[in-house]
Amino acid sequence: MAHFEWKDQYSVGIPVIDEQHKKLVAMVNELYEAMSTGKGKDVLGKVLNDLIQYTKVHFQLEERLMQQHGYPEFAAHKAEHDTLTHQALDLSAKYVKGQAALTIQTGNFLRDWLAKHIQGTDKKYAPFLQAKGVH
Ligand code: FE2
Ligand code: FE2
Repeated sequence: MAHFEWKDQYSVGIPVIDEQHKKLVAMVNELYEAMSTGKGKDVLGKVLNDLIQYTKVHFQLEERLMQQHGYPEFAAHKAEHDTLTHQALDLSAKYVKGQAALTIQTGNFLRDWLAKHIQGTDKKYAPFLQAKGVH
């Protein structure tokens, strides 16, 4: 069973964003999978790096849409993205140097962050962007 299950309640009602969120959920599951099957450091590091890269792509899309349409809570939203990006890059760099381990707690942290961010912070922009015709 997947560690992280997509739920309909995660939908922000904007298909292009839902699709990216689903992909992020799938990538967090890949990370769990790689950890629980004892994949080597190279594989694990690559899975983490792919997740970080895709997260950046996703954050950029959201930020572009929010900015384009003058979303009033853009700055606070971007700050949450920046904090997570910084934490993830820091973890990845430490992992590569052998200064940090990737554990179930790492997966849980990413899963919980994503679930909370989608259902709270991302859902807040949904009606605003929908009203601007984003779908
Ligand atoms: Fe998002
Ligand atoms: Fe977001």
